[in-house]
Formats: sequence, C-alpha cells, structure tokens
Amino acid sequence: MPDSSLLSLLKGKRVPVATSCGLGSCGSDMVLVLNGAENLTPIGTTEARTLAEMEAPANARLACMARLTDGDIELEVPEDSLQV
Ligand code: FES
Repeated sequence: MPDSSLLSLLKGKRVPVATSCGLGSCGSDMVLVLNGAENLTPIGTTEARTLAEMEAPANARLACMARLTDGDIELEVPEDSLQV
C-alpha cells in the first residue's frame, strides 16, 4: 500500500512492533531494511538524529517515520523492537 508508514504496514500484518512517541524520537520501533530502501521516503532530521544517538546500523529506519512510496520492501524487526 503506497504512502503508508512502515509502522502501519507492520501493524496491519500483526507484527507487534513496539511504539511510544510516534514522532521519530524514542527509537523503540527501529527496523532493519534488507531490500527496497529506495522505495522509502528519505530520512528526515529527527529520525537521523535518533538513529545516530542509538548508534543504529546504516540500514536502520524508524517504522513510524519511514513511509513506503512504491514497490516492495523487505524488513527485519529486531527482537528489541517487538512488544513483549
Ligand atoms: S515510535 Fe518513537 S521513534 Fe517511532
């Protein structure tokens, strides 16, 4: 579904991604992009700052901030990003 946040897409697939702020500042919903990064919106200032503070891998995105614009995406949801 184009122009949907990764968070909405994951929740739609019943993946229990942890969320808190919904604003790109808490980092609880970090996911790893395995394929299709070109199909996501660019990283904005807040998301980039949060990922840098987390020392996240280069392929990390915040599910609440990244939106799928077109095509397909393959993600890995780290265990720390799942609700328990
Ligand atoms: S829910 Fe806080 S960064 Fe996405």
